[in-house]
Amino acid sequence: MKTKIAGAAALLATILFAMACNNAPQSASDAVLENILTRTSIRQYTDEPVSDAQIETLLRAGMAAPSARNLQPWSFVVVTDSTVRASLVTKGVNKMYAEAPCIIVVCGETTMMRKPHDAPEDAEPQEVPNGNWSVDCSAVTENILLAAHSLGLGAVWTACWPYEDRYAPVKELLGIPEKVMPLAIIPVGHPAEDPAPKDKWKPERIHYGRW
Ligand SMILES: Cc1cc2nc3c(=O)[nH]c(=O)nc-3n(C[C@H](O)[C@H](O)[C@H](O)COP(=O)(O)O)c2cc1C
Repeated sequence: MKTKIAGAAALLATILFAMACNNAPQSASDAVLENILTRTSIRQYTDEPVSDAQIETLLRAGMAAPSARNLQPWSFVVVTDSTVRASLVTKGVNKMYAEAPCIIVVCGETTMMRKPHDAPEDAEPQEVPNGNWSVDCSAVTENILLAAHSLGLGAVWTACWPYEDRYAPVKELLGIPEKVMPLAIIPVGHPAEDPAPKDKWKPERIHYGRW
């Protein structure tokens, strides 16, 4: 309890500090900052479904993410069907996938078409590994988590890639193509728990000018 109160107090201090630095009155940017600072992983959900409109909002937020060379190498599998979600669990994947009313599987294209370096103008593009796919899809995943929080939903990032025992059954069950990799699975639902956001502010991690 003490830790929760201390955490909440530290968080409030961070928000107030951020607002004070920004001299501006309560504004949309304050709301964005507060949303970022108060997001926390939610792992318990009520039975209430997530609406189609909410799911679309989450996906729009995901697809607004930055990506290297603006390749947008992402795709999504949205699963609300309880039988499919239960099958994932029987295949040894996280039990939250059955408990949340919706899961969003964030997938990345692991290859891209590109002309080789020093290739002539008229060279055909070739399929090469896209070294940035997981970074790009991580930005997507965080955007979705933040959007879920702003809608009053609860969500958590659960790892899929790089663990073969997690991604192999997911790929098989959901029919994900060979060169596409599920990076993260986000269970989303209406929160059935209210954990305090963690205070992660560690000034000692910052080096100004030089390490
Ligand atoms: C790459 C990554 C993988 C994660 N995998 C899992 C997971 O498999 N299961 C889980 O319950 N949480 C997972 N998490 C959530 C973290 O445990 C959580 O973000 C961390 O404890 C910080 O808590 P917070 O999200 O409430 O700030 C993952 C987070 C990240 C970024």
